Amino acid sequence: MYKFPKDFLWGAASSAFQIEGGWDEDGKGMTVADYNSFKRSDKQADTKVASDFYHHWEEDIELMKELGLKAYRFSISWARIIPDGDGEINPKGIEFYNKVINKLLSCGIVPIVTLYHFDLPYALVKKYNGWEARECAYAFERYAKVCFENFGDRVKFWLVHNEQNLMMRVDERMNIAADVSNKEKIRAQMDYHMFIAHALAVRACHETVKDGKIACAVSSTVTYPMTNNPEDVWAARLNNLFKTDYSLDMYSYGEYPGYYMTYLKEQNIVPATKPEDKEILCGAKMDFIALNYYRTLTARAFPADEVHPKGLRIEGMNEVDYDMYGYWKIERNTNLQASEYGAQIDPTGLRIVLNDYWSRYRLPLIITENGLGAADELAEGEKIHDDYRIDYIRRHIEAIGAAIEDGVQVLGYCLWSVMDLLSSHEGFKKRYGLIYVNRSDGDIMNLARIPKDSFRWYKKVIQGGSGQILQN
Ligand code: BG6
Repeated sequence: MYKFPKDFLWGAASSAFQIEGGWDEDGKGMTVADYNSFKRSDKQADTKVASDFYHHWEEDIELMKELGLKAYRFSISWARIIPDGDGEINPKGIEFYNKVINKLLSCGIVPIVTLYHFDLPYALVKKYNGWEARECAYAFERYAKVCFENFGDRVKFWLVHNEQNLMMRVDERMNIAADVSNKEKIRAQMDYHMFIAHALAVRACHETVKDGKIACAVSSTVTYPMTNNPEDVWAARLNNLFKTDYSLDMYSYGEYPGYYMTYLKEQNIVPATKPEDKEILCGAKMDFIALNYYRTLTARAFPADEVHPKGLRIEGMNEVDYDMYGYWKIERNTNLQASEYGAQIDPTGLRIVLNDYWSRYRLPLIITENGLGAADELAEGEKIHDDYRIDYIRRHIEAIGAAIEDGVQVLGYCLWSVMDLLSSHEGFKKRYGLIYVNRSDGDIMNLARIPKDSFRWYKKVIQGGSGQILQN
C-alpha cells in the first residue's frame, strides 16, 4: 500500500494528430504528422479521422469525467491555431480549444497542455525547411504566446515540445530527406533551434501566464549495462547521456554538456548560434520536468573500428538506437518480459528514473506518458478484457508509490492513452486506450466509445485517492 499526495494529478493523455481527426476542418493547415501519415494511408489509418475527437470531444470529456480523471494531458495543434505556422491566426482553432478547456474545467479536470507534439505546420517546412531555420523558433515563440494569451487564464500546466530528444533522431518527424548529404549537421541545427524555441516559450509563459508552470516533456531513458565490465557500464551511461540527459542538461543549464560539445566538434556539426542565445537559454528556468516512460534498454560496448567508424549508423539498428559517439549496441534483457510489440516491461526502471531526475534537477516530476500498446479484441457483450494492461499500469503505479516513499516529488501520472488513438507505425492495430474506439485501420466503422476493463479498474484507483493500489 502506497500513499499518494491528496492533490495527486491522476490523469490520462493524448496528442492532437493522434486523436483529433478533422485534419483540414475549419481552416486547419496540414502538418508534418498529416503529411507523413498520408504516405501510409493505404496501409494504416491516417490523421484524417483518427479517433475523431474533433467531433466527439463533448462525449469524450464526459467519459473522462465518469472515469474521475483529475488531469488530462493533450496537445494543441499549431496548424489549427496558425494554419501556415507564422501567418494569420485562425479564430475557429482558438474556439475549438476554448470549448475543450472549458468543458474539462467544468468536469473538474485540470488541463495539461503540450504546445508541440510532432506536428509542425507543413507550411514551415516549405518555407524554411522547418527547424533548420532560426525563423522557425521565432514562429514557435509567437504561436506559444498566442496560446498563453488565449488559454493561460485557465491552463496553468504547460509542456513545450513532446520528446524533442527522441524526435530529433527520427528523420521523418524532423522532415529530413533520406538522401541529403549533410544530414547530421542539419539535425544538430534543428535540435539547437528547438532548444532556443523551448527557452523562448518558457520565458513567454512566465511573462504571460499568472501562476503558470512550464516544462519539457522528455522521452526518458534508463539503460542497464549488459555486464559489469566497466566498458559496458560506460556504454550504458553513454546511451542515457546521448539519448536524453544532454537535453535535460540543455533545458536546465542552457548549455551543452562537455561530452556533447566534443561530439558536435568531432563530427564538425556545431550549430550556428547568436550572441544573445546564452542569455535566452540560461534565463529559461523550467518549473517541473515531464517524462514519458515505457521501457528500459540494455547496452554493451561496441567500439568504433575501421568497419564501423564513428558517426555512421549500423545496418539493422533503428534510428532511435544508433549511437552518435563511439558505438554501443542495444541488447535484449533476458530478465525482462517484452510486450507483444517488443517494449521491455520494467516498472523498477520507472522508480530508478524518477529518483535519478529528482536527485539531479530537484524539480517536481509528472509522468506524462506510460502505457501498454496491445492488439485489444472486442469480446462478447461489447467488452474488452485487458487484464494485461491493468497489470502493467498497476505495477508502474506501485513503482511511482515507491519513488514517492524514496522522497521524490511526483505531482501526477498521465496514462497513455485516454482512448485508442493513432499509434505511430501500427495505426489502430496497436491500442493503448482505457476507452476502445470502434474502428479499424481500413474502416472507420461507427467510432463508438467502449470503456475497457482497465477504465473501470483505473477509476477505482483514482477513487482510492491517496489510498491503496487495487489488485486486479
Ligand atoms: C511516445 C509518443 O513516444 O510514444 C506518442 O509521445 C506515441 O505520441 C507513444 O504514441 C507510443 O508509441 P507508438 O509508436 O506505439 O505510437
